[in-house]
Amino acid sequence: MADMGGAASANSATEMLEDGVRRRDWIHIAALSTAGVGAASVLIPLVTQMAPSADVLAESTTDIDVSAIQPGQSIKAVFRKQPLFVKRLTPEEIAAAKKDDSANMRDPATLAQRTKEGHEDILVTMGVCTHLGCVPLGAAEGENKGDFGGYFCPCHGSHYDVAGRIRKGPAPLNLMVPEYNFTTDSVIRVG
Ligand code: FES
Repeated sequence: MADMGGAASANSATEMLEDGVRRRDWIHIAALSTAGVGAASVLIPLVTQMAPSADVLAESTTDIDVSAIQPGQSIKAVFRKQPLFVKRLTPEEIAAAKKDDSANMRDPATLAQRTKEGHEDILVTMGVCTHLGCVPLGAAEGENKGDFGGYFCPCHGSHYDVAGRIRKGPAPLNLMVPEYNFTTDSVIRVG
């Protein structure tokens, strides 16, 4: 019986000890969490003062005059802090893109679906590879345009065609076409 009583008090002491440890841990964790929240609440205002708010950024638009872009040329612009490519396709590139509309593609889309009616020679895409976000080559004179004559991402070898469609390499999707409209025959508003 004495042994049983000893065992019972030992168990009780162990429970108390464990309970005590748990309590201390909880107080410790609670204190850390409070400190963490306090630090975050100091940092966030500093960061938000330095950057445009998400609302402002999300609603921002970019106007681009495309009249100076010659057939076969692309320009690089910036839209919401990310690279944007605007390309004027040559008649040969338009024909090649249409010919490939029915090709077996990873992310099927026709040239007409990726351009505006009456402006199929103007291709507007984000300059951000859909694999891991590198900026593809091909927009500037003399850059590698890849095996399909559009854009080539040197990071891991993704090849996009003249319509910015993924044709080879690890990228899962076509170069993204952002929301945009022609505000005049020669100006687009992106966003
Ligand atoms: S980021 Fe472009 S291929 Fe990997």
